[in-house]
Amino acid sequence: MDVSQAVRERRSIRAFKPDPVPREQVEEILRIATCAPSAINLQPWEFTVVLGEERERLSRRLIKAYKEKQITCAPGNVKPLPSEVIARGVEAAEGMKPFLSEKGIEFNQFVNEGSCNFYGAPVAIIICIDKAFSQSNYVDIGIVLGYLLLIAHSAGLSTCPIGLITAYSDEIKDELGIPETKSVIIGVAMGFPEDDDPINRFKSSRDAIDKFVRWID
Ligand SMILES: Cc1cc2nc3c(=O)[nH]c(=O)nc-3n(C[C@H](O)[C@H](O)[C@H](O)COP(=O)(O)O)c2cc1C
Repeated sequence: MDVSQAVRERRSIRAFKPDPVPREQVEEILRIATCAPSAINLQPWEFTVVLGEERERLSRRLIKAYKEKQITCAPGNVKPLPSEVIARGVEAAEGMKPFLSEKGIEFNQFVNEGSCNFYGAPVAIIICIDKAFSQSNYVDIGIVLGYLLLIAHSAGLSTCPIGLITAYSDEIKDELGIPETKSVIIGVAMGFPEDDDPINRFKSSRDAIDKFVRWID
């Protein structure tokens, strides 16, 4: 599969089969993903791969924390966003709703509890960075995340990045023995898609590039 095909085909999957993913396959995906570039080649990423009963335990802890604290999937912007940006988020949520009504589940419960449960995926990957790094190194984490999603897709696996869980970093660190000196940047749910689940028919849209690109010549 060439890179363009992987980029075009990849999308977030929110219902997974419980079937385990062989550890060697996850290892190979991480080996390739970490060919990603990073500033001064510092490779600041740290991955915690959580499988099996430990993954179940982590999800139970996250769902409990979510029910107590009610921090939800929200943009987390520090200033008001332009209405056209807000509209993209609304469109994504509205686009999912018909599939969720087929499942008989309400949107907020599905997305928030589902994210805390890694949507049932057998593999949960927590990506951290040492707090010693500058925030500019967070770009490196974004790049390696993008590579990871694409390599997984080309290997026949599905993924969903899970940002919500960063709201529960304390619980994650406690559960997984991640030191206080690390920041949890993002989680990834990974596994085989549940093809019969209606939500996996949802595909998000993209604006045309003239919305994002300014040419100067
Ligand atoms: C940094 C980041 C955090 C995300 N966090 C979540 C999340 O917590 N829960 C979720 O269901 N999807 C999450 N997503 C998935 C996005 O909603 C998804 O990428 C977006 O709607 C575009 O859809 P696509 O991935 O199918 O192309 C996240 C994506 C990114 C890049």
